[in-house]
Amino acid sequence: MKRRKSAPGPRRGKTSGKKALWGAGFASGPGEALARLSISHPWDRRLAEVDLRGSLAHARGLQRSGLLTRAALARIESALRRIAGEIERGSFRFEDADEDIHLNVERRLIELAGDAGRRIHAGRSRNDQVALDLRLWTIAAIDRASEAARVLGTALLDRADEFLEANVVVAARTHLRGAQPVLLAHVFHAWVEMLLRDRGRLADARRRAAVSPLGSGACAGSTLPLDRKGVARELGLPSLSANSLDAVSDRDFAAEFESAAALAMAHLSRIAEDLILWTGEEYRLFLLSDATSTGSSMMPQKKNPDSLELTRGKAGRVFGNLMATLTVIKGLPLSYDRDLQETQQPLFETADALELSLAAVTEVVAGLRLRPENERAPIEPTTLATDVAEELVARGVPFRTAHETGYPPAEPETAMAGAPRHVM
Ligand code: ARG
Repeated sequence: MKRRKSAPGPRRGKTSGKKALWGAGFASGPGEALARLSISHPWDRRLAEVDLRGSLAHARGLQRSGLLTRAALARIESALRRIAGEIERGSFRFEDADEDIHLNVERRLIELAGDAGRRIHAGRSRNDQVALDLRLWTIAAIDRASEAARVLGTALLDRADEFLEANVVVAARTHLRGAQPVLLAHVFHAWVEMLLRDRGRLADARRRAAVSPLGSGACAGSTLPLDRKGVARELGLPSLSANSLDAVSDRDFAAEFESAAALAMAHLSRIAEDLILWTGEEYRLFLLSDATSTGSSMMPQKKNPDSLELTRGKAGRVFGNLMATLTVIKGLPLSYDRDLQETQQPLFETADALELSLAAVTEVVAGLRLRPENERAPIEPTTLATDVAEELVARGVPFRTAHETGYPPAEPETAMAGAPRHVM
């Protein structure tokens, strides 16, 4: 059998002339497969900003507890600033041997700050460190999503005002069939209601994410006199985790955000579906702006609603990410398990998809052009049948009798017999 060349990725030997920071008791580095499985810096470098913020707060806490001199803290602070600059400029060298963002930063910190850098991991484990980073990252993602939802809501309200002013009426549908006439603004307001609930859920998730796990260490806390409250305060986190075993293994905040995101994406997908229909030839209510549609490479006449379709498609991935996170969490024994690393990519992807989809739908809504009334699909007069029945009720006819009078709708002349003419 021909030996296959191994797939691209980090290898033993190539990854490490260097040993991992935890590697003191190890004669060799990880095998090739383990190295490829465990390296997370290609994606968890997105945590760099919050990781540095967390390290700074932790270091200041160590200084307050007498575990770092002021001079050592100053060296750490300036090294962390320098690392932030290197990461921002893209000149930071990520080493596979250091697996993740946390160890890459710590190694560089030690390079830059020497002995002071070697002191920063006192009272801390990557387990409480990554829990903190993910919480801070999730909070920022929630804030971005909530703001994007507010912007979309405002765009919908602006358009609703415009349609209200112009007194635009459309057929509300149930079962996708004409039901009753409504103001077009009423439709836009329905979407605003969905977004308001989404923002409420995001705010709820944010509250439970804003908890500092620092001080939990690997799983059982630390014997060192850590200033947990001061560190949390500096990070803007109003409360502390109460149980270290739970704190290092809790990813509820990710699942909660992803759940709120999944519902928000379900809403965006529904809005997308309606707008796809209403901008199509059958409904002819709106035209999409050129900036929010794409052409066909073959059919010259096409203007396709791609941003709406891609939003609808992203919803599927966001639902899948929630399921991925729940499934990773579900069988884990207390406390930290490395499986938890697999909750990161679903979280990042969900936050990206939600933010981008909100922006895409906002762009569509802002660019919609209402077609002139004579171009729109006509509203079937039968959609007034309920109003007629209710007019009869108002005149004393029992509702069931009025309802039967209004049937069959195919013959409006007969159906509306006895109805006041002016309603038609
Ligand atoms: N990259 C790891 C993660 O995200 C950091 C924690 C590693 N902890 C450990 N005990 N190996 O979960």
